[in-house]
Amino acid sequence: MEATTLNQFHHENGDRQSELKAFDETKAGVKGLIDAGITKLPPIFIHPKTTQNSSNINPTADKHSIPIIDLEGIHGNEMKRREVVEAIGEASKTWGFFQVVNHGIPINVLEEIMSGVRGFHEQDTEVKKEWYTRDRSRRVVYNCNFDLYTAPAANWRDTIFCFMAPNPPHPQELPPVCSDILIKYSKEVKEVGGVLFELLSEALGLNPNYFKDIECSKGLAVLGHYYPPCPEPDLTLGNTKHSDDTFLTILLQDDIGGLQVFHQNQWVDVPPSPGALVVNIGDLLQLMTNDRFKSSEHRVLANQCGPRISVAGFFTTYMLPSSRVCGPIKELLSDENRPKYRETTVKEYVAHFHAKGLDGTSALLHFKL
Ligand code: OGA
Ligand code: NI
Repeated sequence: MEATTLNQFHHENGDRQSELKAFDETKAGVKGLIDAGITKLPPIFIHPKTTQNSSNINPTADKHSIPIIDLEGIHGNEMKRREVVEAIGEASKTWGFFQVVNHGIPINVLEEIMSGVRGFHEQDTEVKKEWYTRDRSRRVVYNCNFDLYTAPAANWRDTIFCFMAPNPPHPQELPPVCSDILIKYSKEVKEVGGVLFELLSEALGLNPNYFKDIECSKGLAVLGHYYPPCPEPDLTLGNTKHSDDTFLTILLQDDIGGLQVFHQNQWVDVPPSPGALVVNIGDLLQLMTNDRFKSSEHRVLANQCGPRISVAGFFTTYMLPSSRVCGPIKELLSDENRPKYRETTVKEYVAHFHAKGLDGTSALLHFKL
């Protein structure tokens, strides 16, 4: 690099760090920028041309979409269960993503958690600020971009993150606007997660309790995302391309759209489907199944007509003291299927994911043998 370019780089980089800091210190998130009436995207949110939405438009992307799987009848009807196990196994192998309907969570609970998350983000800024933190040991973490200081570009999104299981919090530990519904919704998502882990175990030919017994369904974090309307949505993203550092994720999205999964080299929309839950395989299940199940990369486009709201249920145990080791499942390995990953702990995996930030590369690569 020539001296002048280098100076320029240091200059811009210095500017960026102080802009990030100034923005972070407002504790008002992206929502705060919108409230202040900005009409241009602040530079910290501008993504490189190569990852911007406009350079990825693919006119053939509507050819296929992720499967929708109906869970009705899986508890009484042997044949129905076998069909569902087959469909879930296939979807987890090819897409790493599917939607489920008739999952058992009542519509009013889905509606209430959506309005609870909206209520949190839209409450008085002074009250909301009390929850703003980057201290990940806290039970409730509200901030704008967990990787604000490490990612190459910031995302147009605010998030509230709550550890909900095991040891559900007392309502008094949670923001009053959404405390009761967070507890109620988390209980429901844990139930659905339990069923999905059984079906996933069966799809691998394992004992239905396999994943439960190794505590994959034990820990749940609930993330309430808020993607405000964006004045220049094509220059940024709501959520950079990433795969989840979880065992499994269960996502509820509203009707705005913008979630996309990267499949066979193209971005495919995950269309909003009323009452449905989006399920995706996380990195730790890809690692444990030795790549049989795929933790697919996905992203969220910024939108002009939002706010868009989504609620992600992350099955993960990184907040627990457990030192349990995760590695490719022995029963699935053979001479033809040698382990592709080294063993790790959930804590180590998540620490690596967080340190790296959303930079467009997979955290799994670091654990490849
Ligand atoms: C996530 C995520 C998608 C969405 O929380 O990891 O990918 O639609 N969310 O908010
Ligand atoms: Ni994700």
